[in-house]
Amino acid sequence: MKITIDGHTVEVEPGTTVLEACRMVGGDSVPPTMCYYSKLKDCGGKCRCCLVEVTKGSERDPRPMPKLQPSCVTAAQDGMEVKSATSERAKTSRRAVSEFLLINHPLDCPVCDQAGECDLQDLAYGNENFRSRFVEEKRTFEPENIGPYIQLHMNRCILCYRCVKLADQLTPERVHGVVGRGDHAQISTYIERAIDNDFSGNVIDVCPVGALTDKTFRFKSRVWFTKKFNAHRHCTKCSGKVTLWMFGDSILRVSARKDQWKEVEEFICNECRFEHKETEDWVIEGPHKFQKYSVNNVNNYTEPMEKVKINIDELALEGRKQDQKKISMVNTPYDANELEAIKKTKEE
Ligand code: SF4
Ligand code: SF4
Ligand code: FES
Repeated sequence: MKITIDGHTVEVEPGTTVLEACRMVGGDSVPPTMCYYSKLKDCGGKCRCCLVEVTKGSERDPRPMPKLQPSCVTAAQDGMEVKSATSERAKTSRRAVSEFLLINHPLDCPVCDQAGECDLQDLAYGNENFRSRFVEEKRTFEPENIGPYIQLHMNRCILCYRCVKLADQLTPERVHGVVGRGDHAQISTYIERAIDNDFSGNVIDVCPVGALTDKTFRFKSRVWFTKKFNAHRHCTKCSGKVTLWMFGDSILRVSARKDQWKEVEEFICNECRFEHKETEDWVIEGPHKFQKYSVNNVNNYTEPMEKVKINIDELALEGRKQDQKKISMVNTPYDANELEAIKKTKEE
């Protein structure tokens, strides 16, 4: 099947969603996602951040779809044409969705552990000249203790349901869910039961905002001050492949490794995540590379160095041909050593 996104045609398998096709195209065509998570089944369709404009339904039925479609739950059709980055309608609506998500969202960023790796921050900053029109009092919830490892800040929750889907699909017994409706809806564990099973910590990684954070990392550092390393250990419960968030020799946090879409590659167990904070517990493989634009990339190269090519035909020291005419010291006399060094560099 062929589908065209912003003028780029890609070949996809039947059953592929429009969002997955957009990810194949890449760049600005990839819509933001706050609820969709490719590693979880039946996840998406909640936040409406990923809206796209379908200008041609399919080869068989070329009518455009009158309403914008959430790309994460819209199946690609053969001959479909979609506008994502090139649709003003989609961009305006995404902007309205982010304004809506921020209506009840607290101004917690300066004290929020998610800052720097928060999808909602990225979404809000992606909107140029964003101004909230909401002047009413924001909705707030009573703090709730959901156990020793996971901190719940319900005020920051955007009700994406990722944590609920994860608990349904990964843990034997889900003890938390969304209770209430409308602006009373909240993530709760019913009678405050702790989430105590081996894989519950993964809700921290899938939560797109700072509603579920790691209690053992709370207020220890900002993520951009930490150095991230991929590491592994022998674990009988999970793959043991993690990212260590270190400051000097101290392991401040352990998380699952994430891919370029900021989605977990392999879910890890609570023992690896919370109970091994000594460097001797881990075999460190090397620096973790973030693929997506992120403040976590500070001091990291995000692309393999062999791809970086400086495209100059003359050595920078000698200057470009067109510039040599503008300066008075053309043909600077190099000594023998300098000439040898220039020759060697050119050969390389
Ligand atoms: S969840 Fe994100 S947007 Fe909300 S306070 Fe935390 S960092 Fe800021
Ligand atoms: S707690 Fe986080 S993952 Fe769960 S519904 Fe709220 S925002 Fe989504
Ligand atoms: S990511 Fe598609 S609706 Fe949320």
